[in-house]
Amino acid sequence: MSGAPLLEVEDAVVAYGDVPALRGLTVRVDEGETLAVIGANGAGKSTLLKTVAGLLRPVSGDVRLDGASLAAVPAHVRVARGIAMSPEGRRLFPSLTVEENLKVGAHARRTGPWDLAAVFALFPLVEERRARPAANLSGGEQQAVAIGRALMANPRLLLLDEVSLGLAPVVVAQLYAALPRITEQGTTVLVVEQDVHQALAVADRVQCLLEGRTALEAAADEVDRGRLTAAYFGVGER
Ligand SMILES: Nc1ncnc2c1ncn2[C@@H]1O[C@H](COP(=O)(O)OP(=O)(O)O)[C@@H](O)[C@H]1O
Ligand SMILES: [Mg+2]
Repeated sequence: MSGAPLLEVEDAVVAYGDVPALRGLTVRVDEGETLAVIGANGAGKSTLLKTVAGLLRPVSGDVRLDGASLAAVPAHVRVARGIAMSPEGRRLFPSLTVEENLKVGAHARRTGPWDLAAVFALFPLVEERRARPAANLSGGEQQAVAIGRALMANPRLLLLDEVSLGLAPVVVAQLYAALPRITEQGTTVLVVEQDVHQALAVADRVQCLLEGRTALEAAADEVDRGRLTAAYFGVGER
């Protein structure tokens, strides 16, 4: 199912004011694969995802979907083209109900397998909480809603930013257990994590960022843990 590049980020430089966060970063995700981008706090992971989603514009370099540049394509049109993000920190509307939050994700919906019923089947707890304000949910439940909201757009490329953030390991494992049922629909996934163990468990390939550049790229099942740790922290054996 994989092969052709779905997403290509080429030599992207992205800055906040004068401060560069991505310093010439190249990332490729093939159709049907799951890429994990890992790296320490501040490495540029969220900046990468926001750049792909169209929330940040590169100073130089390009982002392409199916080989076509997205440079002139605003964020909401990127959703319609098939790029949906579950952002770091979940960012639900706290006073809206769970169901209302999910429907927000359907705004620029493509046709496809994901709708309210499918999200509820994926995360039964979310269905039980459907009429509650999002603010009343636990962190893990909120994360499930955030993933479900992104799925409601029926993305070709799903961007997941730090699913594990602030959650107990058992909850993280439950959330990641849903991933195969998402990828088997043909969805390509770009997951960003500080939790290296979890990232390696779900990904086909792993790319480690350090200060806005690639420090290591490898197949997830072949990566040398020592080299990965060194790349992650920017020390020694590289
Ligand atoms: N809104 C912002 N304004 C200024 N600097 C920022 C902003 N967001 C991120 N940065 C900086 O950009 C770099 C990369 O941040 P980020 O992409 O959030 O990293 P990560 O997601 O890997 O933790 C960091 O040095 C961070 O301090
Ligand atoms: Mg981040």
